[in-house]
Amino acid sequence: MQIQYLSDIAKGFHMFLRRGASCGILEKTTNIPEDCMRDTKHDIMKEMRTRFANRALLDKEVPADTLEALVEAATLAPSCFNEQPWRFLRAQGADFEALLGCLTEKNQSWAKRAGTLVLLISKKTFTQGGKPNPWHLSDAGCAAGFLFLEAERRGLYAHPMGGFVRDKARAVFDVPEDYAVVEVIAIGEPGDKALLSPALQQDERPKPRMPYHQLMDF
Ligand SMILES: Cc1cc2nc3c(=O)[nH]c(=O)nc-3n(C[C@H](O)[C@H](O)[C@H](O)COP(=O)(O)O)c2cc1C
Repeated sequence: MQIQYLSDIAKGFHMFLRRGASCGILEKTTNIPEDCMRDTKHDIMKEMRTRFANRALLDKEVPADTLEALVEAATLAPSCFNEQPWRFLRAQGADFEALLGCLTEKNQSWAKRAGTLVLLISKKTFTQGGKPNPWHLSDAGCAAGFLFLEAERRGLYAHPMGGFVRDKARAVFDVPEDYAVVEVIAIGEPGDKALLSPALQQDERPKPRMPYHQLMDF
């Protein structure tokens, strides 16, 4: 099992300002322009507005120090009792092919061009006392969100996937039973959208969101 520990802060990175246009998200529309930044009523962090689950990845390995920086960003997430249940397993070489083989066919069709595949796992019990930790998945999801935003800030795509065979992925890394297999994350630089299937090309855009005021009760 290969766990990415936080270490070096990456030195020098490029910020790609690849989206500039404005588009509405508070209504359901199928006409969202390409490469647009989500419009929000309030002043929201830019990376939250520009990020979306892109699939057009460049077939080029992501440098180790960049990945370490993304994982370091993830470790800044809050967690219950500061348990930090998340672990990030990088699939390289033969492991890349093995983890790719765990994905659904549709996911494989685009994720095969990922610079890196990462398996997110999460410790199900508290280290202190060994009792079940009901919040471990919430914490792992939050950490993944931090990773996505840092990737976005660096002009990288980071796309989570639940479409894979969990037990197969567990076997690839020999994940202990005390850890839940959460998701596979495809990470890479922006690539050529034309290499995606026509259906996925259509999908390569920010998805609309439910109006936030329908989701709150203040
Ligand atoms: C836990 C989880 C599992 C997902 N599984 C897949 C997947 O298997 N394949 C895929 O293409 N996208 C997957 N996605 C991406 C979602 O479809 C995407 O985040 C959602 O449609 C919202 O779009 P946006 O992230 O572009 O805003 C997953 C996202 C999450 C958080």
